[in-house]
Amino acid sequence: MSTAARDPHLPAYHLRPPRNWVNDPNGLVFHDGHYHVYFQYNPYSARHEAMHWGHFRSADLVHWQLLPPALAPTPGGLDADGVWSGNAVTAPDGDLIAFYSARRSDRWYQPIAAARSRDGGTTFAKRAQPLIDGPPAAATMFRDPYVWRDGERWRMLVGAALADGRGAALQYESEDLDTWTYRGPLLARPPQPLPGGRDTGRGWECAQYAPFADRRGALLVSAWDPDDGAQCAVAWSGHEEDGTFAADHPQLLDHGPDFYAPALLPAPDGRILMWAWIWEARDEPRVGAPGEWIDSAGWAGMLSTPRELTLGDDGVLRQRPAAEIDELRGARRIRARGKAPSVLGSIGRAADLTVTLPAEGGLRISTSADAAEFLAFARDRETGDVLVSRDHASLDHRAKRGAWRLPARPGPVDLRILLDHSVAEVFTADGQALTLRFYPVGGTAAWRVAVTGSGRHSVDAWDVDATALKDKRRTPEHPTPQTEALS
Ligand code: FRU
Repeated sequence: MSTAARDPHLPAYHLRPPRNWVNDPNGLVFHDGHYHVYFQYNPYSARHEAMHWGHFRSADLVHWQLLPPALAPTPGGLDADGVWSGNAVTAPDGDLIAFYSARRSDRWYQPIAAARSRDGGTTFAKRAQPLIDGPPAAATMFRDPYVWRDGERWRMLVGAALADGRGAALQYESEDLDTWTYRGPLLARPPQPLPGGRDTGRGWECAQYAPFADRRGALLVSAWDPDDGAQCAVAWSGHEEDGTFAADHPQLLDHGPDFYAPALLPAPDGRILMWAWIWEARDEPRVGAPGEWIDSAGWAGMLSTPRELTLGDDGVLRQRPAAEIDELRGARRIRARGKAPSVLGSIGRAADLTVTLPAEGGLRISTSADAAEFLAFARDRETGDVLVSRDHASLDHRAKRGAWRLPARPGPVDLRILLDHSVAEVFTADGQALTLRFYPVGGTAAWRVAVTGSGRHSVDAWDVDATALKDKRRTPEHPTPQTEALS
């Protein structure tokens, strides 16, 4: 066992291999007794190049096994420059079919390709020809298939940008998963404003559809700009009949800066689960661009924890961490009920907190011995919103800064905070979420939790026990298990 210091920012329970580049979750499916989480993965470096489908598998959403990449680009082939994003479904004959975007740098669009696995999702044989050669007229971006079963037919969405400036989710239909007919856009919209100065984008990547009861549903898209690239994740709830989707107002799916490309897994127990790509916020000039700090870390990106998605009668999409995340709770570090201000105690770097924050209260998680470095939570006294700030969360000047607003009502608010070395996922009991990256460099000092402001709080904190994950984590592209990088 090597004594090399652990990378202090590498997550312990958020899924990602020990090294190299990760982006979108792909091919999320429950197949052959396992949940499969494939993901955009470059096994060679920490840069967004030569995308493969990496592969995690789990029987219970708690214990995960990292398997060798399931799909790789074929030299000289349709996907010579990358097996880009898509999803997977179990075919009627029991095989697993993956649908993906076939990337070549000599064309701007990605034909929709397919591959079949007969061994439970470990290896795939690619279909020689694409399922869909290219975009309909008027598209200026085209990629990311999402396939699902709807009654007697199969449906597919493909993300697109249209020449008139609208983002679009284009729909196709099939009876046999092989021959697909274009049915026009399910929804196409010019950029619409969202909270915090964002908008729904001029192009939509990774369109996904979540069907709920009574033909209500939610269309999820990742807002993309032809000039500035990936922006944020958006959803429209609505009602769908005969391929026409009556959409409500757009909702920001996550109120933080670092959550993108959410993808859905319809679980066998009826839940709709969602994972997303959580990107870096270091010195890269824009999302996905190379940066020196990322290169020297040797890894970039991770997947969110799984979230359960529900649609309220009010049309609002709500999220909470999948119930299985509770099973990762280990030792309890804090159980505090009292009045602010107060220093409550220390927590590990992989932690699960439940917090009731009063109307005038705040929370600080200090990550350096002198408390100069901290992640801060405060309340907006008028609106009740929770303000999450990483302005002081890294003494390294290269780390991105800023504060974000998690919508909440005035009065006490119940929060769930999942921390993992350089990521925070924050949820209100009301189902709103905020994800951000932060890069503490405060050394080996224990992280300390303090309540600020005034009013009665309650705080509980547990260690997150990632042993289930660690036991199984290897770097499949390296023959020798790299266990020293894991804890
Ligand atoms: C979204 C995305 C997809 C594409 C993939 C490439 O982050 O750009 O549109 O298929 O990533 O890695």
